[in-house]
Amino acid sequence: MPIDFFAEHNRSSYASRTADLDWCRWLKQRVNPQGKVIVDLGCGGGIYSRVFLGMGAQQVIGIDSSPVMLKEAEATTPSDRVHWQLGDVTDTGLADETADLLFLRAVIHHLTDLAPILAECRRILKTGGTLLIQDRTPEDCLLPAEPHHLRGYIMSYCSELQKIEIARRHHREDVSHAMNIAGWSEIKSETLWETRCTYNTLDELEKEILNRTGRSILHDLSDVELLSLTQKIHQEYTTQGILTNIPDRDRWTVWTGTKVGS
Ligand SMILES: C[S@@+](CC[C@H](N)C(=O)[O-])C[C@H]1O[C@@H](n2cnc3c(N)ncnc32)[C@H](O)[C@@H]1O
Repeated sequence: MPIDFFAEHNRSSYASRTADLDWCRWLKQRVNPQGKVIVDLGCGGGIYSRVFLGMGAQQVIGIDSSPVMLKEAEATTPSDRVHWQLGDVTDTGLADETADLLFLRAVIHHLTDLAPILAECRRILKTGGTLLIQDRTPEDCLLPAEPHHLRGYIMSYCSELQKIEIARRHHREDVSHAMNIAGWSEIKSETLWETRCTYNTLDELEKEILNRTGRSILHDLSDVELLSLTQKIHQEYTTQGILTNIPDRDRWTVWTGTKVGS
């Protein structure tokens, strides 16, 4: 069953980690959040909203359709420069030309049709502003397993998850094409390895998998399948002698676009 973003037990799933420093440096090279009004669309528990605040954003508006996620975002982000708003990313209710920067991370694979979100983004972004979309393409999801690339093991051990990812993920060229049709300018795409976290121990890694934290795809496995997956990962990492300080990195695709004219 797909993840239920409205369930209380998933409340901290997208709040309980901090963004990696390398990712923050990467962001700053693309667009400096200092002094900007930023809308974090599908903000979840606010992991990236907090990055923008930490980098000196003038204001951050975090929008999500899940009251549970927003409650956690609010509880973990003490700042008077942030505003949490319940709503749909395709119909935000924000005024025209509200933001300097729009950010969507791990959201577009939950949207089948990209036209409504790309139109809404153009409406609420100031002229000259930047849209930044970070998500995984089918190719990103199917990269081979390596000790730092845990998701590769998850995919190789669970072929049914591969089918789900292929069905729900947007291809790189399809997103660029949809942006072009929607009137975006200076469209670029690039790939990026983001360190999700570093596990102190293998035990910590296994517990997070069993809790399905921050990986919506694991909700498509039954408890029995999840236990079997965890045992296989335990076997693999133990055999390779990887027991402590285990980085977990994912490959992403990032699309950027600029709004030129209204
Ligand atoms: C995988 S989480 C990503 C959270 C956050 N962006 C991050 O990267 O940590 C996806 C989030 O998008 C939200 N979401 C999905 N579809 C949405 C929609 N149509 N409108 C608003 N939020 C949506 C979910 O509630 C969830 O919090």
